[in-house]
Amino acid sequence: MSGRIPQQFIDSLIDRTDIVELINGYVPLRKAGHEFAACCPFHNEKTPSFTVSPRKQFYHCFGCGAHGTAIGFLMEYGHMDFIEAVHELASRLGVDVPQPEQHRKEATPGLDIYKVMERAAGAYQSILAERPAAQAARDYLAQRELTADTIKTFRVGFAPEAWDTLSKVLGGDAMTHKALMEAGLLSSNDSGRTYDRFRNRVMFPIRDSKGRVIAFGGRVIGDGTPKYLNSPETTAFHKGRALYGLYEMCQATRKIERILVVEGYMDVMMLAQHDIRYAVATLGTATTVAHIHRLLRLAPEIVFCFDGDRAGRDAAWKALKTALSVMSDGYQIRFMFLPEGEDPDSIVRREGRTGLEHRIQDAVTLSHLLFDQLKSSVDFTSIDGRARLGQLARPLVAEIPHGLFREMILQELSNLTGVDIAGLERSLTSADVIKDLSTATRTDQPGGTKGRPSLVRQAITLLLQCPELAAETGEVALFSGLEQRGMPILLKILEQLNERPGLSTAALLENWRGTRYADHLAELVARDGLHDRDAMSHEYRDIIDTMCRRYLDQELQNLSTKPHNDWTESDRERMQALLQAKRELSAEPGKS
Ligand code: CTP
Ligand code: MN
Repeated sequence: MSGRIPQQFIDSLIDRTDIVELINGYVPLRKAGHEFAACCPFHNEKTPSFTVSPRKQFYHCFGCGAHGTAIGFLMEYGHMDFIEAVHELASRLGVDVPQPEQHRKEATPGLDIYKVMERAAGAYQSILAERPAAQAARDYLAQRELTADTIKTFRVGFAPEAWDTLSKVLGGDAMTHKALMEAGLLSSNDSGRTYDRFRNRVMFPIRDSKGRVIAFGGRVIGDGTPKYLNSPETTAFHKGRALYGLYEMCQATRKIERILVVEGYMDVMMLAQHDIRYAVATLGTATTVAHIHRLLRLAPEIVFCFDGDRAGRDAAWKALKTALSVMSDGYQIRFMFLPEGEDPDSIVRREGRTGLEHRIQDAVTLSHLLFDQLKSSVDFTSIDGRARLGQLARPLVAEIPHGLFREMILQELSNLTGVDIAGLERSLTSADVIKDLSTATRTDQPGGTKGRPSLVRQAITLLLQCPELAAETGEVALFSGLEQRGMPILLKILEQLNERPGLSTAALLENWRGTRYADHLAELVARDGLHDRDAMSHEYRDIIDTMCRRYLDQELQNLSTKPHNDWTESDRERMQALLQAKRELSAEPGKS
């Protein structure tokens, strides 16, 4: 059973594995709204009812009810046992499964990837600052107009022209060597010889949100190819998630109003140098959903900045399509285009902060760009063209979560095409059919009692669907005494999420594997819940609030059944306290 392998290791496996990618390797998936879908591999069917949720990291078939986590999938589909499934996931990630005994013996902790990255970053920094051989690099940075301050903030360094700088500076022992390999700082040739990956390059460390160095970008001095060399993907570095400048941005500003997404390292640094400290860059990849999610958690508005040329327009359209599926109400995504041949670095040096911020003000909204693009690709004056516009828009609109933004897009589309909104809604793709199906399963679920499920059950369901809600719980003691079935499970889940914040739905479920609640909890996850984070948060707070009230009523009720002359002083105090708490709860606005 899982007892042998540390739960934390399982948590991290689930955390680092992408279930969509995993399952897609066995069963080709296609995007359907927020989720991915396919014909179910566990039963015979012609239309897809098997869905995989990236958010929950969980799969579920509405047809046969199969469901589970990445580990569960390998067990079911690959006919593996638990241990085999864990080993499979670990080897896909290139990590070793810790052996419990060995684990304990390792008193001298090995060099992990973060430590070796940190030491390499330090080494590159001091080489840039001190070594005579780094003069060309210092001159180059001066010519690019980077100040000493910016160089320090972004920890810019230099990797000299040599094959063995890192082993000389950090040590040539086997342990360091192994860590350097894992960190992607060494390359090896066909004959197995290893050497420094980065040579004669200005080094830009890429940091995660905690400030740990997870990768490097290295730029040649002057002209030369490749202009930039980046670290390979490692267990610490995933290009599709990392953002250059994110950490530095968060350090500079507590409450970020808006984030500017640019293309290059130099852009981020030069903008910061001109006091625009809210820019980040993707790392030579297209913007991913993971990027947008992260950014929208930090600020309500994202402005994408692109070149005005063809490539820039194409990249913007790609980013727009990616953004559609995360366009919940209350967020703003805009796009700005720079003149051809310019980048934020050149603009901000010429026009300064004010000039660049004027351009940001002129950025167009996502819907504006969407309709511009659609209109420009059809002959909008003809009936055929307008029908074609409807067709082109359909798969795009299907991506947008239900809400005000989607309504507005539909309204605009209706104005343009002359088709009424109901007709547009009907013509939307199977993505929505799947959603409807799941709602149906929910309403005629057997075993579900007539009324709503209990408060505790609703709270558990919401926490499973969106574990980060745990942070919004407030004082557990204010409702933990409420006598309701399932309360111990709710409290246990809250404890788990409190100890390890950041657990995903799937990781949370893995913590219950082997207990008698495991299946029941997985079923609650399989229900289609709310998708909108705000709505879930609202509902969760409401439930907690109601539980607090019920608990107070329960306690007042219990006290009042006690004959009055048996009351002790502490009973009286308790009554006072309960009544006071009740008054405070009722005083909160907007609550009944
Ligand atoms: N990039 C990359 N590999 C390349 C070229 C570019 O990873 N061979 C990425 C880098 O993150 C780079 C960004 O794409 O910062 C933008 O590339 P480009 O516009 O060519 O470079 P600039 O950032 O303008 O770089 P510089 O100003 O130093 O020339
Ligand atoms: Mn540039």
